[in-house]
Amino acid sequence: SVPTLTLNDGIKIPQLGLGVWKMDDADAPAIIENALDAGYRHIDTAAAYGNEAGVGRGIAQSAVAREDIFVTSKLWNDRQGYDETKRAFDETMGKLGFDYLDLYLIHWPMPTKDKYVETWKALIELRDAGRIRAIGVSNFLPDHLERLIEETGEAPAINQIELHPRFQQAAQREVHEKLGITTECWSPLGQGEALSNPILTEIAARYGKSAAQVTLRWQIQLGCVTIPKSANHERMRENIDVFDFELTEDEMAQIKDIDSAEGRIGPDPATADF
Ligand code: A2P
Repeated sequence: SVPTLTLNDGIKIPQLGLGVWKMDDADAPAIIENALDAGYRHIDTAAAYGNEAGVGRGIAQSAVAREDIFVTSKLWNDRQGYDETKRAFDETMGKLGFDYLDLYLIHWPMPTKDKYVETWKALIELRDAGRIRAIGVSNFLPDHLERLIEETGEAPAINQIELHPRFQQAAQREVHEKLGITTECWSPLGQGEALSNPILTEIAARYGKSAAQVTLRWQIQLGCVTIPKSANHERMRENIDVFDFELTEDEMAQIKDIDSAEGRIGPDPATADF
């Protein structure tokens, strides 16, 4: 089974989960059931994905108990602010059909709106009230993290950021380590981009693995949580099959060289405003 990491609040998270961005709400229940069947016990959704209801239905229909599954959702940008956050959280819980959530993240910092500190205070209260087990953020830059800590005394358990072989985020990971924040990788496969890289395919051939598996294994060995998205049964099984081999220090160093100044795929959190 998938190993867990212990977050700064003592909560354990399976180090690999299923991402469900761009998954149709109508398709989600069957895909979730497939994933649980393949051994996944961690699902990463968001209000913005429009599939919380389908994810909740898939979990309810499955033979796996709710408490054995780690579920993440995220607060969308237009719901930031203290009161609005609490309303949005209730809506998310209604859609999922849950009475508690494992992890709730602020999806983007939205620095131009400047509401993320009061949003964070609402998350702290929801956690203290027992409605969320762990709270965190996504796409927060070091400045944003430091401000949360300064103004509330509480560091996020997790920062979920874009991270894949072409965009490795070494400096950001170092800041996380200093602050006791676990790094979680979104678009861990670079939306498929990394998979034809010759360094990865060569290492993969050595182990009888795929470039996708080497990429996910690299993230595991960096100490990150990773959430590859796949709607396909075989690829879903392939992506969780990364716990029977280990990359050498030399291979980890080779992968470091894939990092690129032009590697970013998604929006820059410093200016993202949507
Ligand atoms: P599919 O859902 O058809 O499997 P990321 O998680 O970086 O955003 O990448 C997700 C994309 O990569 C999806 O388009 C997904 O397509 C594809 N993908 C997921 N797993 C694999 C894999 N093992 N090999 C190749 N492509 C994959």
